[in-house]
Amino acid sequence: MRIPVEHETILREALRAPSAHNAQPWRLRRCAGVRGAGGYELHYDHLDYLPHDPDDRDAYLAIGGFLETLDLAAQRHGHRSTVEPRFERTGSDLFVGVIRLRPALPGEPVDPLAGPAARRCTNRCRYDRSELPDLLRRELVAMGCVLVDPARMARLVARASELSWRDRRFVTDLDRWMSGDPAAPAGMTPAGLQLARYEWLALRVALRIGRLPGPVARLFAGRDVRLLATARAVSVLGATDLSTATLVDAGRRLLRCWVAITAAGFACHPISIAVDRPETAPLVADAAGVPVPVAVFRIGRPTRPAPESNRRPLADVLS
Ligand SMILES: Cc1cc2nc3c(=O)[nH]c(=O)nc-3n(C[C@H](O)[C@H](O)[C@H](O)COP(=O)(O)O)c2cc1C
Repeated sequence: MRIPVEHETILREALRAPSAHNAQPWRLRRCAGVRGAGGYELHYDHLDYLPHDPDDRDAYLAIGGFLETLDLAAQRHGHRSTVEPRFERTGSDLFVGVIRLRPALPGEPVDPLAGPAARRCTNRCRYDRSELPDLLRRELVAMGCVLVDPARMARLVARASELSWRDRRFVTDLDRWMSGDPAAPAGMTPAGLQLARYEWLALRVALRIGRLPGPVARLFAGRDVRLLATARAVSVLGATDLSTATLVDAGRRLLRCWVAITAAGFACHPISIAVDRPETAPLVADAAGVPVPVAVFRIGRPTRPAPESNRRPLADVLS
């Protein structure tokens, strides 16, 4: 069954959605639709992702980000998307829902984030501490973020980073999704991570022995703190709970935050370890005053452009 050429364009652009470790945990299946209009089942396989992401938070955020990226891509190409949620689990498979694409109606408004969404990327370089525009601050707050002074987050990011680098489970996940092959279709490459040579060497040591020894872990944590100090703000995205539907919704908001930041000429860089670690997640909740913090990212004006990350081809994702 061939799919319409405009669907192919939209789905290919949707694959640019962000995901932790660039694991791209989404799979699509063509399905018959109502009155002949085709649809796409969206699936997530719990085994094919991060074995040590115990609550699947990052995966469900990524699925939400995928749905939002897809909708904005549809709008760039004169279409709209709808999703019928299912959230049915069979073994390791989660059937997230059915996506449908339809042509836009005459005069139907286009989301202002549709254009900038095509330029969104993660930028891990140093930022220049330019002030964030008030409008951007208001947009982020409206999407459920609390903006915190980077200095307030420094100690807890240092602690989360050191604990993570000493933790075999964190390094195992990283090992699975790190590749020395610059053309690897999924996962992260040294160039994409924007690592200096000594940082890449330390990372290789960690991957070889499964963790970093204490003093090296502390050194490496210093890198995260130095990068944090160049940011103008740290944003904490809150949610009400960690249920699948809530996290998918938070993922959609997260994506809109990142696109709004791109649209304003700024960049962002997630710091998931701060909420991944049970030792620091409650401190993030306290610092931001949110019940359940689900994502933390630094924001600032980047000092250089980010390299484009790789993606799986559509043929490998769609069956
Ligand atoms: C839920 C989520 C968590 C992420 N956590 C981190 C993180 O802790 N550190 C980091 O450098 N990037 C993080 N990322 C960014 C991904 O690595 C990035 O989206 C992926 O490599 C694709 O690159 P792109 O965003 O430039 O398209 C995260 C992304 C998502 C969606």
